[in-house]
Amino acid sequence: MKRFLMGGLATLVIGVALVGAAVYSGMFDVAADRPHSRFVYHIIETARERSIDRHARDLAVPGNLADTERVRRGAGNYAAMCAECHLAPGKTDSEIRMGLYPQPPDLTRHEEEAAAQMAARHFWIIKHGIKASGMPAWSMGGIEDGAIWDLVAFIQRMPMLSAEQYVALVESSEGHSHGGLPSTAAMHPDDDHTPSPGHADNHEHSHSGGHEH
Ligand code: HEC
Repeated sequence: MKRFLMGGLATLVIGVALVGAAVYSGMFDVAADRPHSRFVYHIIETARERSIDRHARDLAVPGNLADTERVRRGAGNYAAMCAECHLAPGKTDSEIRMGLYPQPPDLTRHEEEAAAQMAARHFWIIKHGIKASGMPAWSMGGIEDGAIWDLVAFIQRMPMLSAEQYVALVESSEGHSHGGLPSTAAMHPDDDHTPSPGHADNHEHSHSGGHEH
């Protein structure tokens, strides 16, 4: 028994030393265009899933997520804040999504039933984000809980929408509006054409002839 314990301890010490060496020597690769090893991936995935399960477990899910009004309000915010990473009906990929690691899940593809079961999970992730991935904590920008549930409602409906229905729903919505920061200043500095000294650096796109490569 004692020998067994000593063996376990030695393995642990060697393991910690190896991880430490990989981190401090710079050998651990943080490049987003090279996937994690299976071992690192497994640890991160387990940490993420356990953490989300634990934190989302006791959330009270509103009973009216299928309401047309909720879905409509969620659509405009989804188009403005999420589609670039998570796609939308008629939008099959984006430059930002291709380069992100982990790659943002394609939210147009899940089953309706699965999405309903995942409402609490989705709410928690949208509100708090996920560390060291591209997924932002939208509560930090002041987005209110009600607007987050609207997004959850929209995500449940999205897989059933054609590209035309999606566009129509986004147009019928209030666009990017959810309390919190004023929308143009928060997300689209380039949409605001009023010259302002503080914005001088934000206009690189237009000075270089727009988005070309
Ligand atoms: C800059 C890219 C980016 C933007 C913008 C973004 N997300 Fe994400 N999102 C991610 C990434 C990356 C993940 C996966 C994180 C992981 O698995 O560790 C993710 C995960 C999620 C998930 C979890 C899916 C699941 O069940 O695992 C949901 C739901 C989600 N995002 C919703 C949204 C919504 C709604 C918005 C807009 C308000 C949004 N995201 C905006 C990158 C983004």
